[in-house]
Amino acid sequence: KKDGFDWFMRKEIFEQPRAVGDALLGRHSGDGQLQLDELRLSEHDLRQVDKIVIIGCGTANYAGLVAKYAIEHWTRIPCEVELAHEFRYRDPILTSNTLVVAISQSGETADTLMAVRYARLQKAKVLAICNTNGSTIPRESDAVIYTHAGPEIGVASTKGFLTQLVACYVLGLYLAQVRATKFGDEIAAVVHELEKMPAHVQQVLDGAEAVYALARKHAGTRSVLFLGRHAGFPVALEGALKLKELAYIHAEGFAAGELKHGPIALIEEGLPVFCVMPPQGRDQLHDKMVSAIQEIRARGAHTLVLVEEGDDDVDDYADEIIRLPVVPTLLQPILATVPLQLFACELATVMGHDVDQPRNLAKSVTVE
Ligand code: BG6
Repeated sequence: KKDGFDWFMRKEIFEQPRAVGDALLGRHSGDGQLQLDELRLSEHDLRQVDKIVIIGCGTANYAGLVAKYAIEHWTRIPCEVELAHEFRYRDPILTSNTLVVAISQSGETADTLMAVRYARLQKAKVLAICNTNGSTIPRESDAVIYTHAGPEIGVASTKGFLTQLVACYVLGLYLAQVRATKFGDEIAAVVHELEKMPAHVQQVLDGAEAVYALARKHAGTRSVLFLGRHAGFPVALEGALKLKELAYIHAEGFAAGELKHGPIALIEEGLPVFCVMPPQGRDQLHDKMVSAIQEIRARGAHTLVLVEEGDDDVDDYADEIIRLPVVPTLLQPILATVPLQLFACELATVMGHDVDQPRNLAKSVTVE
């Protein structure tokens, strides 16, 4: 069943080109128009939406953080992202024009389900983004976008996450189309980029051996930090989560701009730090990230830099470089996450841990 892989997780990582393609399949016409016929919300309902609140737990929450950057940019609808278990305990402001987006791979996570029930009682519309057909969260929601990743067995989510990203992009673009906040050709251009993602993900996977070598090299480390900016910030959080879940070592993700406000104190000689470089030409973020990398390197960090092909601005400050295909900033998380999954999977394997069933964790947590 593992198709020759040692772990379901590794198999699922390598299934991602197919999964990412399936998540987009049938959701656009040849000319780049989004079609979400499956959505049980009318265009009228979607035009009324004045606020979006995305809820989820763990990896699903990080998919929501990426989605916020994309959805606000494309639709200009204010978008909040909140941990499902915090949401209903703070008296959130919900109206019938609030769209709550509940992201859950399993569709059974109790914290997310309770938040969905609470939101519906407050008359908000709830849209589920889910991988499991007929599970409880989509059944109790007003609408659903299925992610079509196929069954995910490894406890740590991989293809679940990438397909959640695709579903969020599809939702954002569809809202932009319905509400005419973007021109059709702009939307079509992004759809076209999304269509190329399976091939790009495959290209990143083709470099797996080099990432495994890095994991083996750092197998004895007690801590790993992850830095990103903009849509790369949630990628840093997800990279750290994977390492905590699988390798049981201290790992933390930060927004690189936050470094000087505290985390830089953690930098010490030899500390591995993954840095997700924003694509070139991304206002000033690219250059600011270069400066951040220079600063941590000067303090002894061992920098592992994820950077797009053709960008040689960090070559002098990177101890290791992982190249990514060139894609729009908002879509980069689909690619930048993959080496971090491979790194965590391999590091945990080398350390002798059970990658598919990490200690103390469950695939779906059905108690609050
Ligand atoms: C956790 C899993 O318990 O639940 C995580 O270990 C997962 O991997 C989280 O991200 C949320 O699960 P779901 O099914 O609601 O996406």
